[in-house]
Amino acid sequence: MAEARAAKKKTTPGQKESIRPLISANRIQKRIRALAKEIRRDFPGERLHLVSVLKGGVFFLTDLARSIPGEVSFDFIAVSSYGQNTRSSGQVRLTRDLDSSIEGRTVIVVEDILDTGMTLHYLLSLFQQRKPKHLRVAVLLDKPERRIAAVRADYVGFSIPNEFVVGYGLDYSERYRNLPYVGILTLGSALKGRGTE
Ligand code: IMP
Ligand code: MG
Repeated sequence: MAEARAAKKKTTPGQKESIRPLISANRIQKRIRALAKEIRRDFPGERLHLVSVLKGGVFFLTDLARSIPGEVSFDFIAVSSYGQNTRSSGQVRLTRDLDSSIEGRTVIVVEDILDTGMTLHYLLSLFQQRKPKHLRVAVLLDKPERRIAAVRADYVGFSIPNEFVVGYGLDYSERYRNLPYVGILTLGSALKGRGTE
């Protein structure tokens, strides 16, 4: 239903989208290097298996993976969620599963943003059933004000206010993912706090 949500947000003629920079490319890179160190410090000498959620988490995963010393492998998963009015984690659906088993592995779920928490809540219960050795969560951005599901990330890049952000993997109707920085997208008040996959 990402499409349905995104469709609601299409620009109408006369409306002007604008992006106000929130976190610079430099700050993002610096913070990721610090997170990578922290993760390696928590699991010295272990092979870390990074699992990212397509597509938004991919930029974060590739930069994080390159900053973690030692052995790292990764895999991808894709989900779709059902609209903004959903109140239960059962409303998230898996559209692409992992290629390999996570049993006995030290798994770090790498996500672009933790918003309502429904996606992560769903993924964490799914992964827990697969018996990883450790299961941790790294998110670049956290919007604590929007939380519905009881989940928290172990590694957080930046805590941000309840604004719709784009860039560094985050999109608005599949656009702006390629921006090297994170910015607040404004398109009238209708955008506030909305998310897409
Ligand atoms: P959650 O299940 O509500 O935590 O949703 C998380 C997903 O919603 C993220 O992985 C993003 O794909 C998307 N999302 C949430 N907030 C934003 C935003 O501000 N900009 C772009 N996408 C967002
Ligand atoms: Mg996402």
